[in-house]
Amino acid sequence: MTGPSHRVLSESEVLSRLKSRRGQPGYLAMFSSWLGGVITDPALMQIPLDDHLVHRGHGVFDTCTLSGGNLYRLGVHMDRLLTSAALARIEHSWTKEDLIQMVMDTASHARVKDGAVRYWLTAGPGGFSPSPQECDEPCFYCVIIDPVPLGGTRSDPMSAGIPEATVLDTPMKPPLLATIKSNNYLLNVLTHMEAVDRGGTFGVLVDDKGYVAESCVLNVTFITKERVLRTPPFDGILLGTTIRRIMDLADSTLVAEGILASVDQSPILASEVTGDAISEMFLCGGDTHLYPVTSWDQVPVGDGRVGPVAKRLIELLEEEAFGTAAGESNDFISVDYPD
Ligand SMILES: Cc1ncc(COP(=O)(O)O)c(C=O)c1O
Repeated sequence: MTGPSHRVLSESEVLSRLKSRRGQPGYLAMFSSWLGGVITDPALMQIPLDDHLVHRGHGVFDTCTLSGGNLYRLGVHMDRLLTSAALARIEHSWTKEDLIQMVMDTASHARVKDGAVRYWLTAGPGGFSPSPQECDEPCFYCVIIDPVPLGGTRSDPMSAGIPEATVLDTPMKPPLLATIKSNNYLLNVLTHMEAVDRGGTFGVLVDDKGYVAESCVLNVTFITKERVLRTPPFDGILLGTTIRRIMDLADSTLVAEGILASVDQSPILASEVTGDAISEMFLCGGDTHLYPVTSWDQVPVGDGRVGPVAKRLIELLEEEAFGTAAGESNDFISVDYPD
């Protein structure tokens, strides 16, 4: 942090300061509809301050995974982005195909075959009032970055498992906000921070009637002692893409393999999934991230180790996204790279 300075900076000083402060490795390419193209210099990857995304949170976002030159499950994520934008009343004329094309162009110019993808659809720049009427045009931004594992510095939380804690002081979002993947993520951040304060990792939200909801940026799943995979319905929580894929894989593969008896999506009281009632618990999101929970509120889950269902699902998710068959299913969109 530099001290206060009231000097007006010249254009070249701004550029050189941007370059020295934002020479962030791992930011590979950014598309901006506002600028009408792709930027590959991280120093210049900027969003206008008056975009209502920035000062009102009037924007929605989504993600996907770039794997082996293919965009994994971009279609599913894009459907959710369009639903989020409609609920956030962001008016725009882009079709799903237009948006996919902008993501493909960004990936192509990033010139990498593997990475994390994030994109935002915003009310756009123009003034600082709450009204989108003053915005010049909606904006779409997309960035391709080196994937950074969730969970901070923990070495390998997916194979080691994580401790988790119920969050008691951070309120849940109202259902409208919880079902939109919007840039109003302050409560999600506070959920994570409170969880860490309580010895957990991402946090488990339980509603005022005692039902398990979700985690800060992940869905919550339990394996009961009857070998049923249970997860809460999507009312009042985010329509997770990973949990939907997990339910499909569990149903089609783990049940056939005899690892699971069935899959059930219905309300779950936190009081029903304690002690001996469950053998496993995990959180999931971001296409391929599945975090086995080995203790919840200081009580071991099952035998306190990563269980067979979590292990098998991680294997299946990784094989699908990164394995040799990647790119062959309908869930992949292949990127055209320049020669
Ligand atoms: C609040 C919340 N719940 C659940 C999820 C998991 O969704 P997905 O599996 O689509 O990443 C996310 C993802 O960001 C989230 O923010």
